[in-house]
Amino acid sequence: MEPLERQAQRESWRSRIGFIFAGIGSAVGLVNIWRFPYIVAENGGAAFIVVYLLCLGLVGFPVLVSETLIGRTARRGPVGALCSLATSAPCPQRFWRKTGLGIVITGFIVSSFYSVVAGWMIGYLIEAISGQFASLNSFEVAADQFKSHIGSASWCLGYHFAFMALAIFVLSRGVRQGIESLNKFLMPLLVLLLLFVMGRGLSLPGGKAGMIDFFSLDFTGFTAWTFLTALGHAFFTLSLGQGTMITYGSYLSDRDNIPNSCFPIVFFDTLVSLLAGIAVLSILFAGGEASNQGFALLFSTLPTVFGEIPGGQWVGIAFFLLVLFAALTSQISAIEPIVNYLMDEKKWNRRSAVLCVGGAAFLVGVPSALAFNALRGMTVRGWNFFEWISFITMDLFIPLGGLAAILYVGWVWGTKRAFPYLYGEQIPTFRKGVLLRRYLSLCIRFVAPLAILLILLSALII
Ligand code: PFF
Repeated sequence: MEPLERQAQRESWRSRIGFIFAGIGSAVGLVNIWRFPYIVAENGGAAFIVVYLLCLGLVGFPVLVSETLIGRTARRGPVGALCSLATSAPCPQRFWRKTGLGIVITGFIVSSFYSVVAGWMIGYLIEAISGQFASLNSFEVAADQFKSHIGSASWCLGYHFAFMALAIFVLSRGVRQGIESLNKFLMPLLVLLLLFVMGRGLSLPGGKAGMIDFFSLDFTGFTAWTFLTALGHAFFTLSLGQGTMITYGSYLSDRDNIPNSCFPIVFFDTLVSLLAGIAVLSILFAGGEASNQGFALLFSTLPTVFGEIPGGQWVGIAFFLLVLFAALTSQISAIEPIVNYLMDEKKWNRRSAVLCVGGAAFLVGVPSALAFNALRGMTVRGWNFFEWISFITMDLFIPLGGLAAILYVGWVWGTKRAFPYLYGEQIPTFRKGVLLRRYLSLCIRFVAPLAILLILLSALII
């Protein structure tokens, strides 16, 4: 085993808890609160949840562990890490450098359009605070208002800018003062807000029926696509395949046990998804609304209900605040890999790297912000720019990035050489170590790569 070159004076987490909170902050995002509730409702309730948990165990957790392991061992972001660990790899280092670059660029592109939708949350939070939801007396009125908001280029660009500026501010403060401190503060607050919203939803007449519907076993909507939906969701929600967990892992101390540090991330991400599902469906049922898909759910259906229920203004404020927190902690995790690349590999200082990357991500996000207004007419095969860029990154680049990481650990670096680094300086008990290693090895070498190939194929077929 080659001794790995360690970089002096590199930033790191204050403690393992810092890594766990940052990982949870990255994983818990818009997708947990906005997409999970309706894909569960549409794909068979409890049956979908079981399939989803299976996907997390067989694919999500092993990929998360692999990415963290690459980063922690190399103490570098994706570009440097993939080059330095594969000194005797079959492919030339140039290949791994390009793969690493592709991975950090994917995160950068995600941050450009994620910011556009996250910016809308600021707009809706302001609407909630100023009591605007009270005037939404039907779903149609709310839907029209949403259309008119996103139909305004200045509304979309203004909030996209505001959200990106928030992310730039946090990132410029560094790993400990910025990312770690923000996550340690916002994640507990997010859970409290979520419990408040869920409690209010369940206490409304008809609210409990929403929870029962969420967990009901219904096989009618259950098809082969259900597995692929669960798999794709597990992948995106854990922020895999785009350098975040390699980078966050590179700030983790040598002392820490990687599987033990990754497990709470998967656990809390799933818990938040389930709580969000109960919260959203109970509110929808109480308001007599259907579990609409996509943007309509967050920006039309829920605001209508917030306008109708007693105390709805407070529930609306809490809801959009928690979604905003979730989005901000995910956004910074999408930008950090490329910031880290400029610092590690190009020796930039953090402030310049953050300003440059944040500014560029804002500019790259402009066509996504304009896709709903000024550039609305510009479509290819019926999809606008936003839809194309989110499809290409989320459905193609991210699975490809995850596939590269897992093949790297499983076959290039090799589990035999890689696994001694799993536990850090902690020696696992023999039995636990053997079982865990067998399970991880099987998933990393065979199950996860096959599953990811299936996600890729399904994206190409659709
Ligand atoms: N994990 C985020 C979510 O669940 O919404 C999505 C995400 C954000 C993925 C940021 C990747 C990323 F860099």
